[in-house]
Amino acid sequence: MLSDADLLRLPLEDLTALARVVRDGAHGRRVTFSPKVFIPLTMLCRDKCGYCTFAKAPARVTAPYLLPEEVLAIAEAGKAAGCHEALFTLGERPELRYPSARRWLEEHGVDAVIAQGVEAGGHRAMFLTSEPASQVGTLVLVPQIVDAVSPIPVVAAGGIFDGRGIAAALMFGAVGVNLGTRFITSTEAPAPEEWKRAMTGAKSEDAIKVDVLNDISPLPGTEGFHTVGRSLPTAFWMSGAASAKRRDAIVTV
Ligand SMILES: Cc1cc2nc3c(=O)[nH]c(=O)nc-3n(C[C@H](O)[C@H](O)[C@H](O)COP(=O)(O)O)c2cc1C
Ligand code: SF4
Repeated sequence: MLSDADLLRLPLEDLTALARVVRDGAHGRRVTFSPKVFIPLTMLCRDKCGYCTFAKAPARVTAPYLLPEEVLAIAEAGKAAGCHEALFTLGERPELRYPSARRWLEEHGVDAVIAQGVEAGGHRAMFLTSEPASQVGTLVLVPQIVDAVSPIPVVAAGGIFDGRGIAAALMFGAVGVNLGTRFITSTEAPAPEEWKRAMTGAKSEDAIKVDVLNDISPLPGTEGFHTVGRSLPTAFWMSGAASAKRRDAIVTV
């Protein structure tokens, strides 16, 4: 066995010959690789990491973002070249830094953005995770989204139940609000009276998050789309087929 000092003194060719023996003993001469195509959704980035070799300035790209048909064309070209993996690459939130990125979003049919905080009820867009970072509240989220996507209008959603909430959302820069839970308790809603009373009488800590919604209504794909509903505990959630997974998955908020 050679010492580190002996190894460092070896000529490069002898060193690589020894390394080959070690490699062949462990793995043989098999080399594996995964042919993949890189799809750069946007090469603009709000950050300025010194080591970055990916991000470019707007003047160096033909457009801030790829269009869906361009993404598809790159993927098809990769497939034709034998790739069986696609790797999406992108900079972080370029619209925060570059007006051209903001303009592009506006010009390409983004009419409005809904900023939906963790308070939102029902079947909403929120991953179930213990990470506090994914649990952003509406009044913290809305002004950040407004700043990020302006002049695209922002609609606030999540935990807004009355005029005070609407006024607050407007003060934070939203142009409107999207209410969900509140409408279930309205006179016009066909929900059972008992359920309406339970909702109006509930405290915030009575709500649970439910991770079985995707099993029950898996559209748009066969596996659904990962959302975590926020609801009051009903007999359905607490028993029957849903219960095993629910017990593992729910957290109170
Ligand atoms: C019973 C119920 C079902 C919902 N289903 C959906 C849905 O299928 N897709 C969706 O994007 N949002 C869904 N939402 C979320 C609403 O669009 C809205 O963003 C949310 O309810 C706002 O928060 P709030 O309930 O605190 O008012 C649902 C909300 C409720 C209350
Ligand atoms: S693309 Fe990644 S590494 Fe490059 S500047 Fe942005 S965050 Fe930094």
